[in-house]
Amino acid sequence: MARITTVATALALVIAGSAAAENRAPADGDAQARAAATVKAMRPDEKTVLTHGIMAMPFFPGATLPADAIPAAGYVTGLPRLGVPALRETDASLGVAWIGGVRKDGATPLPAGLAAASSWNPELVRAAGAMIGSEARAKGFNVMLAGGADLIRDPRNGRDFEYLSEDPWLTGTLAGAAIAGIQSNHIISTIKHYALNDQETGRNFVDIHIGEPAARESDLLAFEIGIERGHPGSVMCAYNLVNGHHACDSDWLLNTVLKRDWRYPGFVMSDWGAVPSLSAAMNGLDQQSGATLDPQVFFGKPLAEAAAHDPAMAARLDDMNRRIIGAIYAAGLDRDPATPGGHIDFAADGAVALEEARQGIVLLRNQGHVLPLAANARSIAVIGGYADSGVISGGGSSQVDTPDGPAVRVPLGGEGPITQFLQQHYHPGAPLDAIKAAAPGAEVHFRDGNYVAEAVTAARKADIAIVFATAWRSEGEDVPDLSLPHGQDALIAAVAAANPHTIVVLETGGPVAMPWLDATAAVIEAWYPGARGGQAIADVLFGKVDPSGRLPVTFPASLDQLPRPRIAGMGEIESGIAPVAPRGLRLTEDYDIEGADVGYRWFASRHLQPLFPFGFGLSYTSFTGDGLALAGLEARFTLRNTGTVAGADVAQLYLVSRAGVPSQRLVGYARVALAPGASQPVRLTIDPRLLADWRDGGWTMPGGGYVFALGDDASRLGTPVTIRLAGRRWREP
Ligand code: BGC
Repeated sequence: MARITTVATALALVIAGSAAAENRAPADGDAQARAAATVKAMRPDEKTVLTHGIMAMPFFPGATLPADAIPAAGYVTGLPRLGVPALRETDASLGVAWIGGVRKDGATPLPAGLAAASSWNPELVRAAGAMIGSEARAKGFNVMLAGGADLIRDPRNGRDFEYLSEDPWLTGTLAGAAIAGIQSNHIISTIKHYALNDQETGRNFVDIHIGEPAARESDLLAFEIGIERGHPGSVMCAYNLVNGHHACDSDWLLNTVLKRDWRYPGFVMSDWGAVPSLSAAMNGLDQQSGATLDPQVFFGKPLAEAAAHDPAMAARLDDMNRRIIGAIYAAGLDRDPATPGGHIDFAADGAVALEEARQGIVLLRNQGHVLPLAANARSIAVIGGYADSGVISGGGSSQVDTPDGPAVRVPLGGEGPITQFLQQHYHPGAPLDAIKAAAPGAEVHFRDGNYVAEAVTAARKADIAIVFATAWRSEGEDVPDLSLPHGQDALIAAVAAANPHTIVVLETGGPVAMPWLDATAAVIEAWYPGARGGQAIADVLFGKVDPSGRLPVTFPASLDQLPRPRIAGMGEIESGIAPVAPRGLRLTEDYDIEGADVGYRWFASRHLQPLFPFGFGLSYTSFTGDGLALAGLEARFTLRNTGTVAGADVAQLYLVSRAGVPSQRLVGYARVALAPGASQPVRLTIDPRLLADWRDGGWTMPGGGYVFALGDDASRLGTPVTIRLAGRRWREP
């Protein structure tokens, strides 16, 4: 029975503005004024210098690198006469990218975005951003292509590992934290890929159909929050089309939503090869990146010619320059230039990656408290997943490798020039070594898992069997289903049948199916755990740290539960990154099926039972959240560690229903570390957009009873608390 707390709210019926507006940093007036002055001083021939860039990779056609370019994703020529630096751009979602080993310098690979998000810890994510930004600076980069904020709408998306979560609040707050961390180094970060770039299959031509309210309440809201909190200098528009328009050529996405409604002051850069024509300029694109991949360098000569004849285009060109230079000045690229050859403290940076991996590991199952393993375990069979060598990482432009390069490369074969990049990379730092170190008295034997019979024999002889299962994902292709590749499901089933103390360690870039789950003793999801992942896994297995990760994404019980059991185009297109659709193929994807009910909201609205719900994660201790009370949009409660070891809980506050209509939504969260027996009061302020509908060009909250509950996860909610809130309506911002 809901506890009714009727609180007279001071919320007026019609309020212009919202709490969101308070989050906005004032535009850097000084930078904007200086940028305007620089644009005034530009000669006509200088005006298209900053509006396009090259793919800065020596092996790409047309990419003759200027002397001051660093081989990486991109380079934009500067204007030395006016003191505007060149832009040296590197991919940076999970660290400074390695780009197929073209540069041999290496960097510190962070765990997957999903691991970062499993920490539900913005401070840690900010520190990780600051770390990768400092490494980029030390290499001379001043623009980081980071801040992946697309929602995880499909658990099969090849880039799920780069993204954060299926929830706009969790994604937006964490993306903002990562961006703020990166930019604390006086360099620019993007937020990307704007917007609705939620699948890789046919990513260059798939047309996403979605109504405005659904888009504003889901994917766009994640970007809006990420931009408010992180203030990225640039927004990277996406490859896909949205409602019939290329995202980089979409007046609605770029001019209306981003620049008019959100008052975004920075510049929009395109994804590499995502610009269909010069029309993108009037539709809000400011910079054509990697222009060598597009049919034409539209933002070079054609743009200059158009501006010479058309005053509207000339004004737009000035605006493009003001935005680009304003972002350069606001971040301080000119005053505090990044120069190559800086010092990188790999030990300190590795410690950041280790902490993120530790906080990102999610304990999914722990029958009979088999974990944590006792340091006096007598015999352990470690099986599969190259656990004797390292931990797997994800592929594509975000691939990072350590200075020593990968410990293992598994070529994936195939045909054509791109195949040289199709390799699974395992970072050095073997889980096997870390397990041996944690259990010095145990006999630890490794089997590669290639032969099931051999693995079963080893498992039978040992007290404990730990199976490492890896699933590679990459930019450019979605996975066809959620099985573990290379027969690993059968391997796990056989080992679990042979040894009742079988523990499965998953290193996956997204949700997977677990047909063998009931036969196992324990399962941990370690995602792609980064530079020090092997250590982090052992730390959790042996209880050096309490597992505190919570799933940022729903693990479905089957593909039938998804809004789209089949991804459009899957199997019909040779490569996900094909630039144009095969003849006759029109690829559309209907995101209105679930609309804004992404992930757990879809499961709640359809009463579906997932394999593991959003927010789920076990611990070696236990917690309670008591005394939930709401006053207006402020929630208070107390978290308590009721167990016997130190740990961290993630308090999750959910909206349950509004004005009598069920509507589940995460409206706040807090990660709190607690000693055994300790408690801490928590206060959360709810962003009203999370309670509102987008309607007729603004946000609307119906008046009435709002029911909230703390949840262990999205499907286990505690005592509901009801509060009466007045209806209100407001416009952006
Ligand atoms: C990716 C972007 C990346 C760019 C530059 C594109 O293929 O979608 O995320 O920043 O390449 O490497």
